[in-house]
Amino acid sequence: MIVQASAALSADGYTDDTSPGRLVLSHPADWQEVYRLRAGCDAVMVGAETVRRDDPSLLLKDPSLRHRRVSLGMSPDPVKVTVTRSGDLDSESRFFSTGAGDKVVIAAGDAPGEKLERLGRVATVVRVGVPVTAEEIVGVLETMGIRSLFLEGGSRLMTLFLTGNRVDLLRIAVAPFFVGESGAPRFVRAGAFPFGKDRRMEVLQVRQVGDMSVTDYSLSRRGTDYFRLRQAVALAFDCPRSDSAYSVGAVAVTAAGQVFTGYSRETAADNHAEEEAILKAEKAGVSLKGGVMYSSMEPCSTRKSKPLSCSALITAHKMARVVFAVHEPDHFVQCRGAAVLEEAGIEVSVIGDLAAEAMLANAHIRL
Ligand SMILES: NC(=O)c1ccc[n+]([C@@H]2O[C@H](COP(=O)([O-])OP(=O)(O)OC[C@H]3O[C@@H](n4cnc5c(N)ncnc54)[C@H](OP(=O)(O)O)[C@@H]3O)[C@@H](O)[C@H]2O)c1
Repeated sequence: MIVQASAALSADGYTDDTSPGRLVLSHPADWQEVYRLRAGCDAVMVGAETVRRDDPSLLLKDPSLRHRRVSLGMSPDPVKVTVTRSGDLDSESRFFSTGAGDKVVIAAGDAPGEKLERLGRVATVVRVGVPVTAEEIVGVLETMGIRSLFLEGGSRLMTLFLTGNRVDLLRIAVAPFFVGESGAPRFVRAGAFPFGKDRRMEVLQVRQVGDMSVTDYSLSRRGTDYFRLRQAVALAFDCPRSDSAYSVGAVAVTAAGQVFTGYSRETAADNHAEEEAILKAEKAGVSLKGGVMYSSMEPCSTRKSKPLSCSALITAHKMARVVFAVHEPDHFVQCRGAAVLEEAGIEVSVIGDLAAEAMLANAHIRL
């Protein structure tokens, strides 16, 4: 399972203030991004205290996001998940009472039975051990078929997953103001984090979103692969349409971490996505040796219009790995890209979780 965590912080690192109401840290543009990320996940999770204090609905708001999920074969709403030891959750809170998606309560083994029984009327309640670990939560959700989890706080939940080394991607949005109250909640509590001064997280992207600065970190190779492949899949939707060729997006990352993107037909009518990314690296005079090619679809193994296939180009540039979302369907040609790359000693991985989205970019091609 891929686990993504997301938090909005004040400039002095708080996630709320000490007033009874919820502190709005996010800019509307940041909310839009968070909703989109939420929509891309099978389940969204908050700690029980966030359910009690903030009463979030955790819904998608924008109907187009729900439609998109349905066209990807997903349920309209992500499953909502929380964790508790006290069992003190109001079954009428918006967590339970809003949205058509399933609700799941993970409860510590010693949580009071009568409270869990009551919650069992509005949610699936699963008792686990004491103390509850992040690994256990992931295990329970995986048995329910959940492949991607979006963590939205608060501090104890974040601390549990981060100290348990069970977060793959971390998105931190910093608001341009201070809270300045020492009793306010911070992003995480004290703990033994696997990423300390001797082990730094990988920065994937830094951006301004509205008036907030947003940083995406990777905490695992799985996180990096998922993030870059998701970028590649998003690029597939930018391609000029063609009825005789697929819409594909690609992201080439050099061994030193430089990023070059491309999509089919970006600069010429018969250019492939991987080729576009490679051309940009060549133009910049940057070596792709030892780098990784992320592509929404298996790189091609034969070209009618050009001497070298994308698999041959990747091999010629001595790239180390190729990660793609979906094998090329046997429609225009019989693609052997993955086999050709492996025969050349290149490591090939397929992240099928993004396959439906990669194919949605090609919905115009009748297979
Ligand atoms: N800015 C943001 O991005 C953001 C996002 C979300 C929340 N927040 C803020 O964060 C604050 C809440 O954070 P918080 O740290 O107090 O609470 P929290 O992480 O939301 O929830 C903590 C509660 O979750 C349950 N829990 C957590 N780990 C558990 C474990 N291992 N086993 C069993 N139960 C476990 C316990 O529930 P029981 O007490 O029921 O046993 C615990 O008290 C709020 O002020 C909220 O506004 C901010």
